[in-house]
Amino acid sequence: MKISILTLFPEMFQGPFDHSIVKRAIDKKLVEMNFVNLRDFGIGKHKVVDNKPYGGGKGMILKVDVLKNAIDKTKDKKSSLKNQRIVLLDPTGKTFNQKKAIELSNLNHLILVCGHYEGIDKRVEKFVDEKISIGDFVTTGGEIPAMLLTDAVVRLIKGVLKEGVVNKESFSPGLEYPQYTKPRRFKNLRVPKILLSGNHKKIDEWQKLQSIKNTIKSRPDLLVKRMG
Ligand SMILES: C[S@@+](CC[C@H](N)C(=O)[O-])C[C@H]1O[C@@H](n2cnc3c(N)ncnc32)[C@H](O)[C@@H]1O
Repeated sequence: MKISILTLFPEMFQGPFDHSIVKRAIDKKLVEMNFVNLRDFGIGKHKVVDNKPYGGGKGMILKVDVLKNAIDKTKDKKSSLKNQRIVLLDPTGKTFNQKKAIELSNLNHLILVCGHYEGIDKRVEKFVDEKISIGDFVTTGGEIPAMLLTDAVVRLIKGVLKEGVVNKESFSPGLEYPQYTKPRRFKNLRVPKILLSGNHKKIDEWQKLQSIKNTIKSRPDLLVKRMG
């Protein structure tokens, strides 16, 4: 899978993708990261990428012509439309979740467009497939949302994690069961006996029950959604 990130700050991505699972996925060539600097598509001698909003207001708006050119140059001409998706990171988009992460992890090419400053020209929406928000709050730019989304997607690409790991994690569809490691006892806190029993059938049943209990307690909405 290829993930292209259109940003004014490609250097921000050095670090987050140089460690752990995402780095291993890159090293194993399961994912190819492609950073596109929006400044390279800036207009004129000064490579202008933004301007003041019409109608007044504070802050600067990223220009539609700059973003459209960058998107066109980044699109893979050979990939069918079905296998390529252009996503605009935007607080007004649909909220990101595990279901969307699974959907995006099956693409050949995911293009993430990061806004910055006061935002982007509304007309950019005409040139993307969808808008995704990472939650009901505003970040300074689309870079951290793009990092978060990339991390969640990459770990779902086949071969990145050991077979079966992701199926037992939270949001698949409920929350995960509690996990413990050594020591067996810490102060007055003990590991549940069942986990030390060696009875894998019983452990499996216990984990499923705990997963349901956890979900009912902390996120009952996940169960309601599943039944609906
Ligand atoms: C400071 S924000 C602009 C916010 C905009 N003025 C508003 O009130 O909706 C700049 C950029 O950060 C990104 N961004 C901010 N919050 C986000 C969120 N919750 N999800 C995804 N992207 C976000 C978007 O790319 C946005 O264009």
